[in-house]
Amino acid sequence: MNERPKVLVVYYTQTGQLKRIIDHVLAPLEGKADFTFEELVPVTPFPFPWGKQQFYDTMPETVQSTPRGIEPLKVDVNAHFDLVILAYQPWFLSPSQPTAAFLQSEAGKQLLKGKKVITLLGSRNMWLNAQERVKNYLHQAGSTLVGNIVLVDKSPNLISVITILRWAFKGKKEATRFLPQAGVQENEILTSERFAGPIAAALQHDKWDTLHSELLSLDAVELLPNLVVLENKGIRAFRFWAKFISAKGGPGAASRQGRVSMYRALLLAGIFVLTPISLVTSIIQLNLKKAKLRREVDYYKGISLR
Ligand SMILES: Cc1cc2nc3c(=O)[nH]c(=O)nc-3n(C[C@H](O)[C@H](O)[C@H](O)COP(=O)(O)O)c2cc1C
Repeated sequence: MNERPKVLVVYYTQTGQLKRIIDHVLAPLEGKADFTFEELVPVTPFPFPWGKQQFYDTMPETVQSTPRGIEPLKVDVNAHFDLVILAYQPWFLSPSQPTAAFLQSEAGKQLLKGKKVITLLGSRNMWLNAQERVKNYLHQAGSTLVGNIVLVDKSPNLISVITILRWAFKGKKEATRFLPQAGVQENEILTSERFAGPIAAALQHDKWDTLHSELLSLDAVELLPNLVVLENKGIRAFRFWAKFISAKGGPGAASRQGRVSMYRALLLAGIFVLTPISLVTSIIQLNLKKAKLRREVDYYKGISLR
């Protein structure tokens, strides 16, 4: 009897949204592969709901890739896996701290070495820079990215900023009279089972070179050009603020809270000013530098690393 392929799923989730996404994507594979789940556990938990100051104070170390550590992994890092699914969420345009801690750890690198990896994201809608970072970590660990699936909140950008902050600060996810439910739309989660087919076929035939294009044909990654423009502007601002804040002290230090508050005020103003500006910029670029912006969009939809 042929052995079933072995799949390791590494993930972290605060609200359970990402775990639901994983479960839906993998449901049709039940009985066709053996799954090991490794939930990343920060040494000190990140709160949910978040205190406002605490939330913004988490930005510098997230952006600067100096995350809070995680508990030792439970999985045997030398065990054989045919596939690793790395499920993560972006925080501040970067991989969430537990994800970065995993990717930086010796155990994580050992585990990923020589493995095929699919990344699976549950995000608001700004994940490009985070994925670039993850691609770099995977490359350094000697693994091969064979597919990427991104679930986003499809509400307009400014609406999803409001709903996610309400969710993060008050724990309230449900819709109101004026606002939709926060997070990835329920229908997107339920229909993510469609990605299991190509993954099952790749596992069965150990054939990975066409997996990502098959996933793309199922709309595994949808990307609006204005978000490429917005994210490029955003990450530059975040890097500046991360340096400015961390120069005054480490996570939670009283000495840096004045700067955290400045960043807090400017971030929200920035999002509301920059969103319409980048929409206009992207429309101009789509006309004037059409080929270049299209190339960027294609690059971010793909799995190569430049
Ligand atoms: C601190 C923090 C920062 C976040 N930053 C981003 C971001 O930059 N881009 C994005 O698309 N989503 C962002 N999100 C949303 C998360 O990616 C994720 O979709 C949400 O927190 C639910 O994930 P969960 O499975 O951990 O509950 C952020 C969430 C948190 C808590």
